[in-house]
Amino acid sequence: MTPTVLVSGGAGFIGSHVTVELIQAGYNVIVADNMSNCDKTCYNGAQKITGRKIPFFKMDFCNRRAVEKLFQTNKIDAVIHFAAFKAVGESVAQPVMYYRNNLDSFLNIVDAARTYGCPNILFSSSATVYGQPEKLPVTEESPRQEATSPYGNTKQICEDVLRDSVKAYGNIRGIALRYFNPIGAHPSALMGELPRGVPNNLVPFITQTAIGKRECLSIFGNDYPTPDGTCLRDYIDIVDLAKAHVCAVDRMMADKMKEPYEIFNIGTGKPVSVMELVNAFQKVNGVKLNYKIAPRRAGDVTAVWADPSKANKELGWKAQRTIEETLKAAWTWELFIAHK
Ligand code: UD1
Repeated sequence: MTPTVLVSGGAGFIGSHVTVELIQAGYNVIVADNMSNCDKTCYNGAQKITGRKIPFFKMDFCNRRAVEKLFQTNKIDAVIHFAAFKAVGESVAQPVMYYRNNLDSFLNIVDAARTYGCPNILFSSSATVYGQPEKLPVTEESPRQEATSPYGNTKQICEDVLRDSVKAYGNIRGIALRYFNPIGAHPSALMGELPRGVPNNLVPFITQTAIGKRECLSIFGNDYPTPDGTCLRDYIDIVDLAKAHVCAVDRMMADKMKEPYEIFNIGTGKPVSVMELVNAFQKVNGVKLNYKIAPRRAGDVTAVWADPSKANKELGWKAQRTIEETLKAAWTWELFIAHK
């Protein structure tokens, strides 16, 4: 029988791309989302791309009864958890809201999974758990550092919830994928990032500036101890990132895990500076960006990039797309959204 994967937050940016890759790899997918931070554009896009009617539940994972019912009434073989708040600044201003939402939802999922026979749990974590690493690139063994925001702390706590639950209950296994900086859009231009209000992240801000929705991009600091003075990050294409989830689910399903709880870095292994990214965007898309150098943003780390060799070796996964292809897709998506 075709295995079924539940994707919490499956209507969002990452969740919708993962939904498509899972379906294309032969899985059944159930999407559940409370739609608190997205509309149905990406979910509809996923249906168009796959040519499938994808089962959808509008629900909040903080609602314990609803989560139990979902697991009771559907045979779920694996769950991937994306449904979470993700704005760093907002989490500093509204810590209780962030802890409640991001922790309750995951606790409900782990509890329902172990109770109703879903053995495989994949948690969407973040490179934010590494803070500013002393040694670069970071491996999965690099120490986590005390989180600088409630958002970052919820990623660390959920990793621990999964690790401890796998150990204690014996009937579930877990994988945490630590994403570096996911960017881009689906090559079909039917799915991509749709930030509400002013974008916090770099690439949506770039595309919105290029199209004239924003006046000017601020580059946060050019006095960092890096080759060109701007911060270094590991930008990972959204479709590449989505494919890593399929590899991780395959690994769990095939019972190929070396440990019942595993962690993988999902990145390219290549550092790119803010300035390099801005220049690459202008060049590949033939557009001119209005930008200025602004003061550093509080809480930003200077440089972080992945050593993805564990994922390369164990998951058989490797980032494929070039930054140029990715930035082209991001721009095509912005144009698509603008004309909708
Ligand atoms: C941010 C979050 C991180 C989260 C990730 C999810 C912060 C401090 N960190 O990572 O916890 O897991 O998003 O996507 O918010 N930049 C500009 N101008 C802009 C926007 C960004 O110069 O208008 C620069 C930033 O200083 C940074 C780089 O671009 O050097 C990337 O920023 P961003 O896309 O926000 O990602 P991170 O800060 O790495």
